[in-house]
Amino acid sequence: MAAEQSAGSRRAFLRSVGVAGGAGVLYSAMGALGLAPVPDVRAEEYRAPQRNDFALTGRGGKKVLVLGGGIAGLATAYELGKAGYDCQILEAKDRPGGRNWTVRGGTALTDLDGRTQTASFTKGQYMNAGPARLPQSHVTLEYCRELGVELQVFTNQNANAYIYHESSAALAGKPMRWRTAKADVYGYLSELLAKATDQGALDARLTPQDKERLIAFLQSFGAIKGKAGGYAYTGTDRRGYSAEPGAAFDDGTVLSPVPTLSDVIASGVGQRFAFELGYDQAMLMFQPVGGMDAIPYALAKAIGQNRITYGAKALEVKDLPDGAEVTYKDVGGRTRTQRADFVVAAMPPMVMARLKHNLGTDITAALKYAVPTPVGKIGLEYRSRWWETDEHIYGGITPTDTDLATIWYPSYGHQGRRGTLIGYYNFGANAVAYSDLPHAHRLARAVSRGVKIHGDKYRTELDHSFSVAWHRTPHIEAGWVDWPSQTGPEYKLLNQPAGHVYFAGDWLSHVIAWQHGAFSSARKVVTDIHERVMAA
Ligand code: ALA
Repeated sequence: MAAEQSAGSRRAFLRSVGVAGGAGVLYSAMGALGLAPVPDVRAEEYRAPQRNDFALTGRGGKKVLVLGGGIAGLATAYELGKAGYDCQILEAKDRPGGRNWTVRGGTALTDLDGRTQTASFTKGQYMNAGPARLPQSHVTLEYCRELGVELQVFTNQNANAYIYHESSAALAGKPMRWRTAKADVYGYLSELLAKATDQGALDARLTPQDKERLIAFLQSFGAIKGKAGGYAYTGTDRRGYSAEPGAAFDDGTVLSPVPTLSDVIASGVGQRFAFELGYDQAMLMFQPVGGMDAIPYALAKAIGQNRITYGAKALEVKDLPDGAEVTYKDVGGRTRTQRADFVVAAMPPMVMARLKHNLGTDITAALKYAVPTPVGKIGLEYRSRWWETDEHIYGGITPTDTDLATIWYPSYGHQGRRGTLIGYYNFGANAVAYSDLPHAHRLARAVSRGVKIHGDKYRTELDHSFSVAWHRTPHIEAGWVDWPSQTGPEYKLLNQPAGHVYFAGDWLSHVIAWQHGAFSSARKVVTDIHERVMAA
């Protein structure tokens, strides 16, 4: 009884605010009471629409057509569905997820050139062809929690993985472990700075106490000698061992010789260290157990399979005075038209730009303003996990200066019998160079590079492979896009509705090429639509 009274008086209060100040005031009052979303909410302030919002105001859920069943489209339908919006997703492919795609045995891909690959990975083996790592700060992890998607650690950085700079004479074209590279770079850096500090070169910046403390830090940071030893870096076991220490009197053999300062600088290995300092790339990172596509499949299940139409290729979007209309070709090749109160176009911008629409030439120009990035990946399944047994690499990444860009060791199935590496993950010109080739040639090229790092087993132990070129993949056409500017009129235009048509995707965020960007953009559009409906 008390609860009813309080709900009743809250409703009466809201109604009186609505009468006095109009819908806008009503809505901000609801926001203040925690009942309605506030425009332009940050991810951490997001409030999902709720059925209760309508119960309080007498409004009903509207019909929303979502174009694209990638993460942004799925998140839009999922979030709006929480308040009872009648959402339908039209997805051109035969699966949810867009670029979130896990390739397993039997997965097929026909690219824009008409070339088809069918993966023959062994049961339990897979590659995440698109997104493959989740930072702890990303809202993607919250969705995993909410949807019951189990996570495991993704190893983005491994001291035992290599840095491979074949063009470096200083490294004699040999791979170097991250731990060795760090020992040498930190060591010499510390030696130089300690010497300069001790010799008074930095006296203008440092007090005597600062100098003492800085040198103490450098001694631990670089494992250098003390003052008596001239603060020299001469190498320590941080470099690793050529013979591991063992029982009794066996103290092992530290890896030597230590390269000269000049060679360490020339090798360029230190240029790799910034990677793990990137806000989005720092360990720990995570991945769903069993494949990244656990996320879209969980979203699709929560939305309801009856709300997703696969094989539906959008042809035309029409804004109308009181809604919007989409014409598409269904899986059987029939042309169909559906009407809704709102349309959310959660497609790649360059694909959307080719649709027939009445949203204006500025919209087309803005969609074309985004620059697609070519991105490629190859999965290599091996009969043995030689990188673990022979090289003691359990996950992590080897960056190279070859056209592979990087080799990734799997962060699942450790100590198992088989394993699947990512043999290249490259962008731009390198991705185009590989995608120009049929799969067998991509594979041969990737393996010839890998052999130089890991030896013959990189070829002899190989069993199955699969490659994706996102820029040659139908309905997707890029790994991600870049904007020449995110402050100019083009980007602004697409962040607002064109009549009843909204745009969503990671490309409309400052977290492009991450699922977080897609979720965040979806949340913004959901908030905008719900606010509009509530204020109408
Ligand atoms: N988010 C993408 C990656 O981690 C770009 O590689």
